[in-house]
Amino acid sequence: MRRKLAAGNWKMNGTAADLTEVKALIAANPTPTVDLLLCPPATLLSRMSDITKDSAIATGGQDCHMNGKGAHTGDISAAMLKDAGATYVILGHSERRADHGETDAIVHAKSEAAISGGLIAVICIGETLDERESGATLGVVETQLSGSVPATATAANTVIAYEPVWAIGTGKIPTLEQIAEVHAHIRTLLVTRFGEEGQGMRVLYGGSVKPSNATEIFAVEDVDGALVGGASLKAADFGPIITALENA
Ligand code: 13P
Repeated sequence: MRRKLAAGNWKMNGTAADLTEVKALIAANPTPTVDLLLCPPATLLSRMSDITKDSAIATGGQDCHMNGKGAHTGDISAAMLKDAGATYVILGHSERRADHGETDAIVHAKSEAAISGGLIAVICIGETLDERESGATLGVVETQLSGSVPATATAANTVIAYEPVWAIGTGKIPTLEQIAEVHAHIRTLLVTRFGEEGQGMRVLYGGSVKPSNATEIFAVEDVDGALVGGASLKAADFGPIITALENA
């Protein structure tokens, strides 16, 4: 049985004033029946972790370097994230793949570093609109999954997030049949490669998850939760998504 996970990716949003949202979320969810995760910008990670440390909310980074330390201006290592209170890290988000040229090989190396550093890697994959429209989705997801997920991945240290690029921040989501098809494909690939461990790895859906569509998305087979962007910034939005996942 996979424990469900509601994860929030704050992306490049949030300053100290926004930590009131985290306090509100904790107050509203004292004993959640699903795992909860918030990934703030690096500047807030330590302060957010101080607030969440006695709560059910875990914190995570949004990226880490593949090396442990060294001359890499602006980068952050897995050990630094852990030191700031993180237990998870998002890797290979499509925005990093697009903005920073991250290839599957880079995401693979970062994921290895995160896992060996004791973090849970949330590895993101997903097709562009062109790839969707040309019928390439399943192949793209397969290539990204095999190229990005390291051999050290287990059910305990790795989460997969399926995020169609065209659904991120657009208000558009795939049909429920399309979500089901991709999640089933990912599950088959994970089980083929990792056996029983692959059966236990959580696969999240991400892309325009809102309180209004969360219930129908969470009813789709093999959807083990969500990676939420915009709707994770406010407790009033993320709270109902958590409740929908608890009730799924
Ligand atoms: P939105 O929920 O804002 O579409 O973002 C999804 C996402 O990219 C989460 O990582």
